[in-house]
Amino acid sequence: MTEHEGLTWRNPWFRRSVVSLVLLTLGAFLVGFVWLPSVHGDFTAEGLWASICQAAGVPSKSSASALDSKHGPLSTEVVLERSMARAGASDAVGRGATLALNCTMCHGAQGMSVSNAPNLAGQYPEVVMKQLEDYKGGQRRNSVMQALARSLSQRDIEDLAAYYAYLPKARTAPTTYDEQLPALVRVGDPMRNIAPCISCHGGVDQKLGTPWLEGMPKDYLVGQLSAFKDATRRNDSQAQMRNMVRAMTEAEIQDVAAFYARKASAGEK
Ligand code: HEC
Ligand code: HEC
Repeated sequence: MTEHEGLTWRNPWFRRSVVSLVLLTLGAFLVGFVWLPSVHGDFTAEGLWASICQAAGVPSKSSASALDSKHGPLSTEVVLERSMARAGASDAVGRGATLALNCTMCHGAQGMSVSNAPNLAGQYPEVVMKQLEDYKGGQRRNSVMQALARSLSQRDIEDLAAYYAYLPKARTAPTTYDEQLPALVRVGDPMRNIAPCISCHGGVDQKLGTPWLEGMPKDYLVGQLSAFKDATRRNDSQAQMRNMVRAMTEAEIQDVAAFYARKASAGEK
């Protein structure tokens, strides 16, 4: 027997090792691509091919659409543009003031709420526009505001935004670094991926579409933060607020809300 004959099918050792290699491969394939995915929590029983794709990490379209139907319309459809942040023409302000007579009952005569409705005086125009459009389209849920917003035209929304942006900022000065700030407002918490509130909500920078918070009623702020946390409010584009609030505790929500609300009484004096 030459040494070449050693690696032919007639060699029982060679035969055995080929057969066991095939069986091992098949076994690993079944365990890795069929059995493990099938006992995994989100196995969808869509057949072998789907399990193989899922196990290999291919994003499945069906799970994304399942998420949609479970949570209703996702996020917002409003595309924020710089031009929305421009102060409106003076006739827009006048027309907005007339329309706003329907809003004073809750948002106050000068846009400063005396109930727990949000203040609108001096709110950035693109914020008022975006929120009204989200109520109108059902991306932000509130029965009163959805009903009201549905009857507003595009022009009405623009004029109301112009009017409220024009109202004197009876609220207090923006948050700055020169005062005592809760840690989350000043520096956030990098370990939990919480960016400082001040970096989006004014003070250091106002990101387009980010609301003015100073002087808002505390209950309103707590309500909105909790709604972002349990995702009953999810009209924030790219889940910006949901991502901030997710890791925050109840006590921290109370704390930052009290901080932003506190500015109201400081300013009224
Ligand atoms: C019956 C009371 C009521 C009336 C009338 C009302 N609002 Fe509201 N509005 C609310 C409440 C309460 C909220 C907060 C709802 C929520 O939790 O989403 C709100 C929210 C808003 C917001 C979102 C503000 C923010 O900071 O996110 C805007 C903008 C707004 N209202 C505009 C208007 C306009 C414009 C009118 C008049 C056409 C109006 N509202 C009439 C009660 C009212
Ligand atoms: C990455 C930017 C960013 C950071 C950081 C951020 N926010 Fe926001 N926040 C937003 C945006 C954008 C919105 C508007 C969402 C929308 O379109 O409805 C918002 C909305 C809110 C609202 C709802 C206000 C209203 O009137 O509708 C509250 C309350 C709020 N933020 C509080 C906070 C607090 C408190 C912090 C710090 C712990 C914080 N945010 C950090 C971007 C940010």
